Amino acid sequence: MAEHPAADDATAATSPSTSPTSADEPWWRQAVTYQIYPRSFADSDGDGVGDLPGITERLPYLAELGVDAVWISPFYPSPQRDHGYDVTDYCDVDPLFGTLDDADALLARAHELGLRVIVDLVPNHTSSDHPWFREALTAPPGSPARARYLFRDGRGEDGSEPPNNWTSVFGGPAWTRVTEPDGTPGQWYLHLFDAGQPDLNWRNPEVEAMFEEVLRFWVGRGADGFRVDVAHGLVKEESLRDQRVAPAPDHPSGDEQAMMVTRVDDDEPMWDQPEVHDIYRRWREVLDGLPSPDGRPQDRMMVAEAWTKTPEAMARYVRPGEMQQAFNFAWLQATWSAEEFADVVTGSLAALADVSAAPTWVLSNHDVVRHPTRYGGGPRGLARARAATITMLALPGGAYLYQGEELGLEQASVPEDLRQDPAWFRSGAETGDPGRDGCRVPMPWAGEAPPYAFSPSDGAGLRDGQPWLPQPEDWGPLTVAAQTGQPGSTLELYRRALAVRREHARGASEQVTLLSPSRGEATGGDPEVLAFTRGRLLVVLNCGDAPVELPAGEVVLSSTDLEGRLLPPDAAVWILRE
Ligand code: NOJ
Repeated sequence: MAEHPAADDATAATSPSTSPTSADEPWWRQAVTYQIYPRSFADSDGDGVGDLPGITERLPYLAELGVDAVWISPFYPSPQRDHGYDVTDYCDVDPLFGTLDDADALLARAHELGLRVIVDLVPNHTSSDHPWFREALTAPPGSPARARYLFRDGRGEDGSEPPNNWTSVFGGPAWTRVTEPDGTPGQWYLHLFDAGQPDLNWRNPEVEAMFEEVLRFWVGRGADGFRVDVAHGLVKEESLRDQRVAPAPDHPSGDEQAMMVTRVDDDEPMWDQPEVHDIYRRWREVLDGLPSPDGRPQDRMMVAEAWTKTPEAMARYVRPGEMQQAFNFAWLQATWSAEEFADVVTGSLAALADVSAAPTWVLSNHDVVRHPTRYGGGPRGLARARAATITMLALPGGAYLYQGEELGLEQASVPEDLRQDPAWFRSGAETGDPGRDGCRVPMPWAGEAPPYAFSPSDGAGLRDGQPWLPQPEDWGPLTVAAQTGQPGSTLELYRRALAVRREHARGASEQVTLLSPSRGEATGGDPEVLAFTRGRLLVVLNCGDAPVELPAGEVVLSSTDLEGRLLPPDAAVWILRE
């Protein structure tokens, strides 16, 4: 049996405190935000795809769950090639999801219930069906219409080679060649994602002006904040030079083999350029300067989706005068290891303290494999997921939850012929990576069989009784209805965790003192146990194989049933010390 972490360990590492908590702190600083993927949350009209009225109907469930805010993935008009992250009009709602009136009703109902609403902004690219891109296709090279995007001539004698060697995040080249209006093969345009998502040229003032209007539009309708998609990608190195790639061992002359060789990861002329920060400073001024539509305090926020390489790079997005939050993906990328978790906590807190910003924590979203599956799946994966979640909820700052994680859903397996993710079509079929559909399967609300009250069961849009992505046949015990009131269910754990967080974590010191693991032999910290304190609150996460004896104090939250004072493997606990 392992020793319990010594709560008074003199050599414990204490993180720098970000800033003291206070009653008048901005709403987002310690908020728990629940991500809604609108296609898959609730379908009110039976077409098999979720919609805004469906969300509005279910908002009381979220208020009762105990979250503070919702972030809604894009619901703008879109051909849905990347399920809404390909926008044709930033100031409207896709008929698939409803109308602007439905958006207004959703915002009003959320506010009535005390929930804030974060709208997803997609500024890196439009859809290729956006009127600007259509105009660019009919306009000549060098025209103002093309200057809103990144059009370039191709390389090679007849321009038939892409302008540089960049690849799309979804696989394949990041360039597509257009056919000019006279029918001849023409220029190329850049798309860091799907070919249906042409990248905008953020050095063009028209682009900047358009998005400032979009911010004003949604704030005018009551939005409380914006999640900024691909925040690290908007500006590219101006030359659009080749990415430096390392020669593959069997191809020493790397240049000729540019598309085939291993990339040098630290040369990224398309990501995290210094100029992106100028954009967020301007947006901050715009948002801070807007009057509130209904007299609510003007504390709108932005959260960056920026996949940065270091905590310091992440912290640059939340410097004073820029965004308020950035997703801390390092927490989600850590493997099941107390040492890795500890490194993320200390590294993130230190980097954010340097810029006086509050941290955020997240384990799942619509782009990654659900965390019970990442931790190995089955009962053990779920136990670990529950433990990681309550550990995250004890940390200072904001936390983001993804719909369905409160039910302990695993990544579903979606048959090949029903997959929809563009990443699957661009590369997954070759690499064997099934893509992101498995975390986007519609929510099970009630009942024993699909559509589990996600859609009305006689919905005209259901195929073989299934919504747009098929739900597993064995989700009956996982529905909201089945788990409600069930002691030990994951849903009840989340409800309790959020309530206990309000009571014991929100007012606690923001200073995190790490007691374990420790690498110094002198401290006796267990390398497989993460333990930290925030004032009176002590949190212990057991990543090892042996039970851990817990120190004295009242157990206020536990990811599993405890036998006496022993914390089993794959479990976590919150203890209130005397
Ligand atoms: C990040 C979004 O979360 C993801 O779903 C999308 O495919 C890309 N950005 C492109 O917009």
